[in-house]
Amino acid sequence: MANIQRGLEGVLAAETKVSSIIDSQLTYAGYDIDDLANHAEFEEVVFLLWHYRLPNKEELSELKSKLFEYMTLNPRVYNHFQEYATDDVHPMTALRTSVSYIAHFDEHAEEEDESQTMERAIRIQAKIASLVTAFARVREGKEPVKPSEDLNYAGNFLYMLRGELPTDIEVEAFNKALVLHADHEFNASTFTARCAVSSLSDMYSGIVAAVGSLKGPLHGGANERVMSMLSEVKSVDEVDSYIDKKIQNKEKIMGFGHRVYKDGDPRAKFLKEMSKKITSETGQSELFDISVKIADKMKQEKNLIANVDFYSATVYHSLNIDHDLFTPIFAVSRTSGWIAHILEQYQDNRIMRPRAQYIGETNRTYLPIEER
Ligand code: ACO
Repeated sequence: MANIQRGLEGVLAAETKVSSIIDSQLTYAGYDIDDLANHAEFEEVVFLLWHYRLPNKEELSELKSKLFEYMTLNPRVYNHFQEYATDDVHPMTALRTSVSYIAHFDEHAEEEDESQTMERAIRIQAKIASLVTAFARVREGKEPVKPSEDLNYAGNFLYMLRGELPTDIEVEAFNKALVLHADHEFNASTFTARCAVSSLSDMYSGIVAAVGSLKGPLHGGANERVMSMLSEVKSVDEVDSYIDKKIQNKEKIMGFGHRVYKDGDPRAKFLKEMSKKITSETGQSELFDISVKIADKMKQEKNLIANVDFYSATVYHSLNIDHDLFTPIFAVSRTSGWIAHILEQYQDNRIMRPRAQYIGETNRTYLPIEER
């Protein structure tokens, strides 16, 4: 057999029109991420990823009103959180369960015609925000909050989470974070989603699989761990010794390194800028200063650069969001990309079925249990 590409490094597994990474620059359907981060509303990006073009006014308004409608969950979904919404259950575990659970209430879940598939896409994109926020509230003994028609997707997420209207600056920052996390070519969770539906399984199954993959610390789970690290480093002066010790122990530093980007993650600069602004506004500039010092040290010691997860941690922290909700927020945004890839996989499907190089024992003979 041919050489094994560990971690599928450099392997082209399919064609896509959703997003590309060329010369370390990320584009969604041909639009530079810089352009979209500066100008686009998350809903426009959702439409772009699913249709390969930006929506006109009517299309955007229709998408927004459907997202709003579907954000309200079936009361049985709110109630089911009572069964397990405690501090011992990680919100990503809860999200994996609850995405699967909402499929039970979609009477068209098994229908495959195109209009049902697109409706399901909007339904899942809407409900994922409500699932994360409802879980977060129920575990604190609070009532879930219904969305407001006056807010966009980013605003509604913050509103449903906190029960208070977010400020314009908060909505702007959160919208930008959603835009930046929406898609990223064949990352692990997206590839997982495409693998899952390549058997022609349904969209919910693809999203459940993707949530499970994103949860891991080498992927979306890194942002929560960045915050744990920042709370261990008490001041800028402690950075050198903290990182030296980690490197000595051959530990990974969360929020650094990337399979594709070796010179810089194009999303990180926006999050760094936002982190600077929002930590300063909330009187937590030292967190930003510690982050910059860690980034400088990692560049100098390991030639590794901050990825999207590194500065997003302090942005969400400054928005007063619980640290274990960082990865679910990533999932809320990335659902748009997962769905885009699932739709694309359906359009031109071939089941994913690679080979493995067998390295185990051979020519063995079955022995009855008494003789083993
Ligand atoms: N801290 C310390 N050393 C690192 C780090 C890190 N964060 N990342 C990579 N390295 C080292 C590796 O140990 C390896 O060293 P070696 O050659 O001496 O063994 C070398 O750099 C190459 O790294 P790989 O692990 O081969 O890189 P790979 O492409 O397989 O993994 C990954 C990429 C998973 C992102 C890795 O850099 C990592 O674990 N980073 C920390 C977790 C993280 O931030 N994940 C989020 C990624 S972005 C996202 O998913 C949204």
